[in-house]
Amino acid sequence: MSKKFYLTTPIYYVNARPHIGHAYTTIACDTIARRQRMLGADTFFLTGTDEHGQKIERAAEAAGKTPQEFADEVSAQFRTLWNRMGITYDDFIRTTEDRHKKRVHELFRQIRDNGHIYKGTYTGQYCVFDELYVDAVGPGAPCPECGRPTETVKEENYFFKLSAFADRLMQLYTEQPDFIRPETRRNEVMSFVRGGLRDLSISRSTFSWGIPVPDDPKHVIYVWLDALANYITAIGYGSSHKGAQEAFQKYWPADLHMIGKEIVRFHCVYWPAFLMAAELPLPKSIVAHGWLLFEESKMSKSRGNIVRAETILDVLGADALRYFLLREVVFGQDGSFSFDALVQRYNADLANGLGNLASRTLTMITRYFRGEVPYPSATVSQKAGDSAIAETARKVIAEYSSLVDQYQFSRALEVAWSLVAAVDKYIVENEPWALAENQSEESRSRLATILYTSAEALRIVTALVHPVIPDATAKIWAQLGLGDIRRFPLPDLKWGQLQLSTKLGNVEPVFPRADKTAIERMQKMEDQLRSGTTVTQAEPETQSPAAPVATHAAVAPAAKPAVVVPDGKITIDDFAKVELRVGQVKVAEKVKGADKLLRLEVDLGTEVRQVVAGIAESYAPELLVGRKVVIVANLAPRKLRGLESNGMIVAASPEGGKAVLASFLEDVPVGTRLK
Ligand code: MSP
Repeated sequence: MSKKFYLTTPIYYVNARPHIGHAYTTIACDTIARRQRMLGADTFFLTGTDEHGQKIERAAEAAGKTPQEFADEVSAQFRTLWNRMGITYDDFIRTTEDRHKKRVHELFRQIRDNGHIYKGTYTGQYCVFDELYVDAVGPGAPCPECGRPTETVKEENYFFKLSAFADRLMQLYTEQPDFIRPETRRNEVMSFVRGGLRDLSISRSTFSWGIPVPDDPKHVIYVWLDALANYITAIGYGSSHKGAQEAFQKYWPADLHMIGKEIVRFHCVYWPAFLMAAELPLPKSIVAHGWLLFEESKMSKSRGNIVRAETILDVLGADALRYFLLREVVFGQDGSFSFDALVQRYNADLANGLGNLASRTLTMITRYFRGEVPYPSATVSQKAGDSAIAETARKVIAEYSSLVDQYQFSRALEVAWSLVAAVDKYIVENEPWALAENQSEESRSRLATILYTSAEALRIVTALVHPVIPDATAKIWAQLGLGDIRRFPLPDLKWGQLQLSTKLGNVEPVFPRADKTAIERMQKMEDQLRSGTTVTQAEPETQSPAAPVATHAAVAPAAKPAVVVPDGKITIDDFAKVELRVGQVKVAEKVKGADKLLRLEVDLGTEVRQVVAGIAESYAPELLVGRKVVIVANLAPRKLRGLESNGMIVAASPEGGKAVLASFLEDVPVGTRLK
């Protein structure tokens, strides 16, 4: 029987549409899944969406939708994107599906029946953004994880006896050092557990968007217990169907949970403890990667610095994004994304590197050998350079495989490209085009050897990197006349397998060079999305003196109205582009060295934004905390005195007078849209 390999991505929250940070994890997993299939493993690759909890409930409310409608929309965006990118997931689980809800009940019951759940009262702080109970003290105290204001929760809850599992967890980390990778994350987790574990509240009763606690539906199950359970519910845990039970037996425990570094505690402490409590086997390994940064901070919706995958797919294609992320970012560490770096890598490594090697080698075989792979003569035409390439290829196969199996994608690709570079050099030095002008037997034989050697090296790189850049390599493989690359058994890969007289397919370029406009086009697409427009040209904002003055000190690019009515009026659609929302000031402080600026943290219901506003001369910061204000929520972020401002606060600015913040006489929920 073949080995099985079960791997998972985190299930993504549906409070925000997908960006390349999410794509990064999914691409890494897809690469691993494709490689495992080529290695012959019975692979199961799971992804999905995390749809319950207060954060989603509030996001839906702010969007004027029911949580289910909202979750349906955003979940579909994730799925559509993965489909468009050719992600080869085997199942896509949604936590609002019946199969999941029923099986979560089973898990809860099992843990309860095993005596690990009790009822108690929780009083403390909760961070809605992280969906995490925290040790902060006092109303509004900042979350120790993300710094956002926490909310005080006082409710009767079900508790999980997490404290009872500390010793077993420590034993797990010690006996299985590979349970958490990389080492830095393992150390963090061990010191967290060593610091003492408190029992964990695993239900909430102050909102209803979740899975009800079995036999006590006033409570909903804590969203992280619900979410983590997806890894077993999707493959049949707790099902009464025979097929599902068999799948669970076959695939569980997971071979790999791939996650971002911010959710290590949930996966490496809570999850194994829940599984121990349910007497279920533990996953074999949890690998945490770093963050994708954009403009120096973590790419995330709340910072407003996201880049969508679609933009890159439109301009350069999925392979370019996959290659860039895995090559550029050292896996496990944070890495920066920029359009410049993306295009530079694309041109250097893909268009001029692999793409060029493929087209020049295959074109010469087509031209000089009528499209059939020539065979190297074993005696007459062998030179040291030929066997050096074969030797390099052998080394590359071994090194690449070992690096990629340790998830060192960047180094593995560097190694693979060392073969591309070596063959390039070999071709230039041997000048096959010059040999082709001479019809002597010796020249023909030498030409055959050079082109065979190049094509064989190309075949080897192509097979190795297929899981990383599946589209282009499938095309090169077909051009090499080798059929379906997905069926190629990687363990068999070795030098010399390219058969004599293999008939090449149609030779076409796989990576057309990206021109200078590629960066501009991508940047423009993203700017338009951030400013909520679809027009092509962004123009500076102009304001009429009578209009409420936006006190965002930077002038953000505003949309050109789609329809400009002659007397300067705008249509309702133009107005609708401006997303005005009720926010509540949580933190206000002066900006050092800037008399007019205040740094505010404003809660928008679904997220807390940093806004830098020019109102320091009108308001003392302490008077603003707790106050409800109007925020333009979809302004492109701007940096002011080195601080990022995400949105602007709306105020009237009388001639020569002080700014007066727009506010409400009646109470309005935070996050409500003004329209
Ligand atoms: N829903 C939880 C996970 C539950 S798993 C049982 C969650 N969701 S999330 O939508 O916030 O996304 C989490 C994952 O998306 C991260 O762990 C990471 O894998 C990926 N990323 C989101 N933004 C990212 C970056 N800027 N950079 C790298 N990965 C990022 O947490």
